[in-house]
Amino acid sequence: MTPCPPTASDPASPRFAAGRHALRGGMLSFHADPFLAEPAESFVHLPDALVVIEDGKILEAGPYDGLRARVEGSMPVAHYPDALILPGFIDTHIHYPQTQMIGACGEQLLEWLHKYTFVTEQQFAHRAHAEVVSELFLRELLRAGTTTAAVYCTVHPESVDAFFEVSERFGTCMIAGKVLMDRNAPPALLDTAESGYAQSKALIEKWHGKGRQLYCITPRFAGTSSEAQLAAAARLWREHPGTYVQTHLSENLGEVDWIAELFPHHDDYFNVYQRAGLAGPRAIFAHAVHVSEGELCACHRSGAALAHCPTSNLFLGSGLFRLFDAKRADRPVRVGLGTDIGGGTAFSQLQTLNEAYKVAALNQTRLTAAHAFYLATRGGAHALYLDDRLGAIEAGYEADLVVLDLKSTPLMDFRMRYCADLMERLFVLMTLGDDRAVRATYVAGRPVYDRARQPQPFRHADGAAPA
Ligand code: GUN
Ligand code: ZN
Repeated sequence: MTPCPPTASDPASPRFAAGRHALRGGMLSFHADPFLAEPAESFVHLPDALVVIEDGKILEAGPYDGLRARVEGSMPVAHYPDALILPGFIDTHIHYPQTQMIGACGEQLLEWLHKYTFVTEQQFAHRAHAEVVSELFLRELLRAGTTTAAVYCTVHPESVDAFFEVSERFGTCMIAGKVLMDRNAPPALLDTAESGYAQSKALIEKWHGKGRQLYCITPRFAGTSSEAQLAAAARLWREHPGTYVQTHLSENLGEVDWIAELFPHHDDYFNVYQRAGLAGPRAIFAHAVHVSEGELCACHRSGAALAHCPTSNLFLGSGLFRLFDAKRADRPVRVGLGTDIGGGTAFSQLQTLNEAYKVAALNQTRLTAAHAFYLATRGGAHALYLDDRLGAIEAGYEADLVVLDLKSTPLMDFRMRYCADLMERLFVLMTLGDDRAVRATYVAGRPVYDRARQPQPFRHADGAAPA
């Protein structure tokens, strides 16, 4: 691979001086869940704020006027007028190897997996390819303002090493793991219950808790893991407290029927995972489009989280996730947003929210801007049991931040003039906004993306520029 040279916005850059520094701009941060509390009282908005950072953490955040005397002249301040500083976005479901197959036309889930996904993922046996795609993928996430994600690698341990090595270099907090599959996929992508266990265990020992990296045990879904493999995954999870589990649940009607045939003695799809020992805090189930009331209750009771993936569920024709049903106040389920690249069509959480609004509307519900920006920030952190350190701008929280431009295109600039208040501006931001709205992204206090700088040239694994 051709390594990209460091720039001032690279974490490794000698031109970025660590130490105490601050960001100035509008600020938005949630302290409560607007699905459960009064939405207008669930967040703090400061029109002109200062966020002071030291050693990768937020030292304090408050109105500029109150902090300026202590800050001015004593530390560098990056000023972002006409912008809003938020906690970095959190993506609770994404596949990095599928970056190269976004927008594959024409199939629903099971055919799409065989025609495109399993073909693409075989390339990740090559370490050099995995490194190039990992770097491109992480740069795309940061360009979209996403600073933490729950990420599927492939069945190859090399794909996990490549991913975590690049993530370490950026300093990002990533949750990722080797896919487990022991049936119903091409032989080149299969492991066994035993080899999958042993390889995952070695990767956990190498990566879980190394810097900011967190390991996620990743049985792809019940269709490609035998009962023996699901049981081995659960044993691994029990043996390594603090690790995560991620898989897919009830995404597509054809898939749901197939799982019922594969597991005829289980009550429902969620029950397959629950009986195996794979439901609980730090388990993330993607999609859950066709789950029953009983499955939602079981999710709530177990503490498991659901990843809502609207762009993917629309693109693959999977269906409409019932967000407000999942979040029902008498048995709320933890829910985060997922882009589900490459079934999903955008890295941007703003675009993901745009589609989430339409899905909610088709379900006769209304996803307000307060609900939406909570999901993309603190809600995601809550789903991942990281809301004591990520997803908010508060003293002691890790300084993962995104700076959003409220006038990133001529149309947005024009439209914003007709907004009466913050909620209207946020709603326009999530309707018209995309990666162009991200002015800067900070990871553990370091600038890792700056829109004003030239993007890095992309290179294939063999060093060639794209055709
Ligand atoms: N179900 C099993 N594997 C996958 C995958 O890679 N993407 C999606 N969207 N669903 C899946
Ligand atoms: Zn997925």
